[in-house]
Amino acid sequence: MPNIVSRPRRNRKTESLRSLVRETELSVKDLIMPLFVIEGENQKQEIKSMPEIFKFSKDLVVKECKELYELGIPAVVLFPSLGESLKDKFATESCNKNGLYLQTIKSIKQAVPELTVITDVAMDPYSSDGHDGFVNEKGEIENDTTLPVLAKMSVAQAEAGADIVAPSDMMDGRVGFIRKALDESGFSGVGILSYSAKYASAFYGPFRDALDSAPKSGDKKTYQMDFANVKEALREVELDVSEGADFVMVKPGLPYLDVVRAVSEFSKVPVAVYNVSGEYAMVKAASQNGWIDYEKTMMEILICFKRAGAKMILTYHAKDAAKLLGKN
Ligand code: PBG
Repeated sequence: MPNIVSRPRRNRKTESLRSLVRETELSVKDLIMPLFVIEGENQKQEIKSMPEIFKFSKDLVVKECKELYELGIPAVVLFPSLGESLKDKFATESCNKNGLYLQTIKSIKQAVPELTVITDVAMDPYSSDGHDGFVNEKGEIENDTTLPVLAKMSVAQAEAGADIVAPSDMMDGRVGFIRKALDESGFSGVGILSYSAKYASAFYGPFRDALDSAPKSGDKKTYQMDFANVKEALREVELDVSEGADFVMVKPGLPYLDVVRAVSEFSKVPVAVYNVSGEYAMVKAASQNGWIDYEKTMMEILICFKRAGAKMILTYHAKDAAKLLGKN
C-alpha cells in the first residue's frame, strides 16, 4: 500500500461534494447578449458564419430583447448592419436620429425599460473605409479627428436611451473625450464600458461578415493591440480608468484568459470579456459536425472566463446558456 496522506480525489467523490468545493459559479446575471439590427420589418437573417445567430429588424429585435430579459439576461449590446449606401468617410449616419440604430435603442428602452442597453461606439459600421477611425488621403487612421465623431455618436446614443456606451475603436484618449461630451450634454449618469484591451485579431472574421464591415484597405494594427502583449493591456486599462471608464473589457476572450487574469487583478472597476464571433463559430462548427458536445463545451468556456476573473461575459451563447442556467 502506498502511503498517500493527501488525496485530492476525496473532494471529488460526488456531485454534491464537488458543488461544495467549487470555486467559481456562473449565473445568467453574468451574461450580455450581442445583437445585430437590420433595416426592414419582420426580418430575421441567419449569419452564415455564425449558425443560429440572426440579424433582426427593429420589431423583431425588440421581441428578442423581451425574451432575453424574461430569461434573466440583464443586458444586450447592439450593433447596426447598414447598407453600403448609408456609409461615408465621416460615419454621418451614426448621428441620424431617424436612422435604424438610434430608433432601435429607443424602441427597446420603451418596450423593456429594465433591460440594460449597451451601445457600440466606433466608426466602422457606418464607415465607407471600414475602419473604426477617420482615414485620411494617406490611408492613415487619424486619432484626434476621430474623437469628436465618437463623442457626437455617444451623445446621440445617450439621447436615444443608451444606459452604457461602449467605445470599441481603440483611439487614444477617447474615454476622457466621450466622458466630457456626455457630462456636458447632461448625461453624467450614462456609463462607459471601454474596450480597453482590444487586440488586432483574426477571431473577428464572422462579425465583419455579418456587418460587411471589413477594412477596405490595410488592417487595424495601428490602433488595435498586438496580440503578443499583456503589459500594454494594463497600460490601456490604467489610462481608461483614469479617464473615467466604469468597466474595462478584454477582447477576444478564449485565447486571452491570461490577459483577463492580469487585468482583473489590476483593475478596481469590473472587468468584462468578449467571447467573440470567431470563438462562437469554432464551437458551433465543431458541434454541428458531432466533434464536440455543444452545451458542455459552452458551459466550460463560460465558467473558465469567470475563473480567469471576468465579472461579465459578452457572448453569443448568452441565450443558450440562460436556458440551461435558469433565472438565477
Ligand atoms: C469594431 C468591432 C468589432 C467587433 C466588435 N466591434 C470588429 C473589429 O474590430 O473589426 C468584433 C466582435 C466579434 O467578433 O464578435 N468596432
